[in-house]
Amino acid sequence: MRKQLGSIVSGSLTDGFVMRINPETSLETVKAGKFVSVVGSDHRFFSLITDLTLAVTNQDILLFPPSPEETLLASMLKQRDMYATASLKPMLMLGTDSQPRPVKTIPLHFCPVYEANKQEIALIFGDEDEPTQRYFNIGTPLDMDTPVCLDLERLTERSNGIFGKTGTGKTFLTRLVLAGTIKNNKAVNLIFDMHSEYGLQARKEGGQAFVKGLKTLFADRVAIFSLDPDSTRRRGSNPDVEISIPYQAVQVEDVLSLQEELNLHATALEAAYLIAARFKQDWLQVLLTQDGSLKEFAEEIGAHPESIAALYRKLKRIERLPFFKPMATGAHKQDSVIDQMMEYIDRGTNVIVEFGNYTSTFIYLLIANIISRRIHSRYVAKTEKFLGSQRKEDEPQKLMITIEEAHKFLNPQAARQTIFGTIAREMRKYYVSLLVVDQRPSGIDQEILSQIGTKVIAQLSDERDIQAVLTGTSNASALKAILASLDSKKQALLLGHALTMPVVVQTREYGEDFYRAMSATVTSKHIDELIDELF
Ligand SMILES: Nc1ncnc2c1ncn2[C@@H]1O[C@H](COP(=O)(O)OP(=O)(O)OP(=O)(O)O)[C@@H](O)[C@H]1O
Ligand SMILES: [Mg+2]
Repeated sequence: MRKQLGSIVSGSLTDGFVMRINPETSLETVKAGKFVSVVGSDHRFFSLITDLTLAVTNQDILLFPPSPEETLLASMLKQRDMYATASLKPMLMLGTDSQPRPVKTIPLHFCPVYEANKQEIALIFGDEDEPTQRYFNIGTPLDMDTPVCLDLERLTERSNGIFGKTGTGKTFLTRLVLAGTIKNNKAVNLIFDMHSEYGLQARKEGGQAFVKGLKTLFADRVAIFSLDPDSTRRRGSNPDVEISIPYQAVQVEDVLSLQEELNLHATALEAAYLIAARFKQDWLQVLLTQDGSLKEFAEEIGAHPESIAALYRKLKRIERLPFFKPMATGAHKQDSVIDQMMEYIDRGTNVIVEFGNYTSTFIYLLIANIISRRIHSRYVAKTEKFLGSQRKEDEPQKLMITIEEAHKFLNPQAARQTIFGTIAREMRKYYVSLLVVDQRPSGIDQEILSQIGTKVIAQLSDERDIQAVLTGTSNASALKAILASLDSKKQALLLGHALTMPVVVQTREYGEDFYRAMSATVTSKHIDELIDELF
């Protein structure tokens, strides 16, 4: 028997419904963000609780409250005169044909409201056991144990975002989503792993506990490319590839992305273009090896001496990074790491770029830009080939690029100029999309935010961040109230393309049960089939 929580007493299509909570329902089990089903005569309305209010039928009761001894009076009042209401925001309705539709009507007075049940949740969000492997369990609605699934096909059709302030579980959520796409083969990933948390293992807050990384979970499906091989080895494994990048691979566009980080003036960038116009791909090596007079060099290429000096000073630190290697001028092997990476990606192997001890934003931005720009241009070529041949086997596999601290890549200025802005705006025209992870979404360009298909939003406290993540979503004010009520950890509001309706979840626990689910390749059904074949 389903337990009735209450019944509808008023409401409107625009403002949502009001439910009077039954006196038998313990008020404290009814929480903001709870997922409920309003059963009308022809439709079921799926709604989220956005607010709770206490009410009395007569204001005098509040003036003369029953004393603790007057238990009979208190229980009488509770039956008839004191009650609580919940505001419900309907997000979706199901008709008798079980087709989800936008809400276009409202339930009548006194329609009963229930906690949504298992069948309803599976109907709305899909079922993980479905053989298409399209759905991936990401957590459960508040106070329930039925999984809510992300539709991985739809997820990988767009760029996506995972937001929340520090310590809310963004990295854990990201690892879950990535594991889902890897396990179910829905995309190949390129992950820029600034803090070495995705590959081998990662720390879990509290005590000395560690959790498994993706390479540990999917050994032959994931490769680690390391900028700091010693650090990777110290954590217990040889990297698959040690990254080395020749100066010739750095283009002025890559330095553009560092403009804000390095506080580079526009004139310094113009100077970089002047050097590149003259020395082509050798521009950086030529600049960094100017040991003589920078002034003469500036005159030689027709740039302002101070701009050249600033550029030289700010880029000089590249020389101290061991993974940047000078190359004999005219040599043509500058793309070897990218070639290797592309071979892995073509085989469907997921690539994690580990930064080891090189955790500065400068290095993260520079490397992520250099690699992504090149991989993206390979994908453009692959896509064009496919469009030309139209042969199924030429169709590129979807590539999802994960970046943390996304606002540094996608702030309004960078979004206009760098490869990440281009990828976000292209809407996967070339089979490449982004998974942006960020704690300060208000720093991300508005247009880019509005292109994000699916959002996973953990607790945010800054008003601007909340505003930013919800721009362009319908029901923003109701969702805002729900966001404000999230726990500080392991809870998130999910909304967008990969979900039939917005929902709050308790995130799936990333631990032993999850590892087991990820390593189970043979399902029980398969075993039956295998046994049948044997006999
Ligand atoms: N799904 C989960 N399963 C198990 N533990 C979790 C989960 N989500 C969060 N946690 C716990 O919360 C802690 C913080 O999570 P996480 O490192 O993902 O936060 P974050 O948002 O990435 O923080 P930062 O912004 O500092 O990188 C983890 O160390 C872990 O203990
Ligand atoms: Mg993190």
